[in-house]
Amino acid sequence: MNISKAIPCDLKKTNYMRVKIELITAVTAMVVLTSVHTMAQKTLREATKGEFVFGVAVNMQQVNGINPVETDQIAKEFSAIVPENCMKPQPIHPEENRYYWDEADKLVVFGEKNKQVVTGHCLIWHSQISKWFFIDSHGKDVSPEILKERMRQHIQTVVGRYKGRIRGWDVVNEAFEDNGSFRNSKFYQILGKDFIKYAFQFAYEADPDAELYYNDYNVETPAKCDAIVKLVKDLKTAGCRIDAVGSQSHMQLNSPTLDATEGSFKKLSDAGVHILITEWDISILPSPYDGANIAANFNYSKEMDPYRDAVPDSVQQKWNKRMLDMFGLFLKYKDVIDRVTVWGLTDNTTWLNNFPIRGRKDYPMLFDRNNKRKPIVDEIIKLAEKYK
Ligand code: XIL
Repeated sequence: MNISKAIPCDLKKTNYMRVKIELITAVTAMVVLTSVHTMAQKTLREATKGEFVFGVAVNMQQVNGINPVETDQIAKEFSAIVPENCMKPQPIHPEENRYYWDEADKLVVFGEKNKQVVTGHCLIWHSQISKWFFIDSHGKDVSPEILKERMRQHIQTVVGRYKGRIRGWDVVNEAFEDNGSFRNSKFYQILGKDFIKYAFQFAYEADPDAELYYNDYNVETPAKCDAIVKLVKDLKTAGCRIDAVGSQSHMQLNSPTLDATEGSFKKLSDAGVHILITEWDISILPSPYDGANIAANFNYSKEMDPYRDAVPDSVQQKWNKRMLDMFGLFLKYKDVIDRVTVWGLTDNTTWLNNFPIRGRKDYPMLFDRNNKRKPIVDEIIKLAEKYK
């Protein structure tokens, strides 16, 4: 039997209308859902394009794909990477006549594969450097000439190896105390303040096209910022190339203030250098210490590790607001800020779980302990898009 013939005409029309409405509703729902999905899936890398490069410090497990989810997130969400450890003086140059390239080589290839800007961290630093650098075969401090020559060889070998593949280098890391005086490092003791100038000269000779940076923590502290501004001017007067100052930006819930941070941006841009936010993280934990000198270490206590089980909502809200306020400030200065790099991917892998107190549970990163993007990421993306 022909069913259509058996159904009265009006009923057929109603059915047809109903199907049509259902279809339209379904299509509309699909469109809405897809766009919500696309919005949610928009990456940090896409959202910050044209504003600044958005980077992350990576460790070797991530480069080696031990946890493929992390490796994938790094590739998708970030337009830049920097090695968390493997290019520092000690790991890359453990003995005078031995360099260890395996990890740094892999990291550079990883960044190239992901079409990411790769920067080098760091050439001259008082921490994570082997003792051999400063002593002779009798254990005595070497002469200024020998130290200068060791610096030249180190810098030119490392920079030369990655010439044309690394956009820029943290040439000198942390040469100042917070009060603006020179840190009394071995470099300073043996060579005086000129060690900084030599480092920039050697790096330039090794790769004249690479950008060269001075990098430090607590750049927001006025005395330290003034010392860095003076350094920039002195380097320029001496004819050295310096492109940017890296402000590490290891922050806490209450410090530095937005005003102090903005103050440092103004001073640095007035000095004619660009700014990089090189190691951004905001700890939620109480801190016995207001800096990022990796030698600082304090005893563990439960009071100093209050969020082992959960983060109270009020604290979470405070962190969210602070992240957004700071990110908004970075956007405000996007004309002089070339890169914003977070110092780690997830709360699981952040160095802050062990600094400045070992074995705590901190929550400073954009991805949680289950590798999930935190809700703040969407807020950051929205803010970045507003500034376009
Ligand atoms: C930290 C790394 O994150 C840790 O894995 C390592 O044990 C110590 O160094 N300032 C810097 C970075 O310039 O190199 C430091 O990185 C954090 C402070």
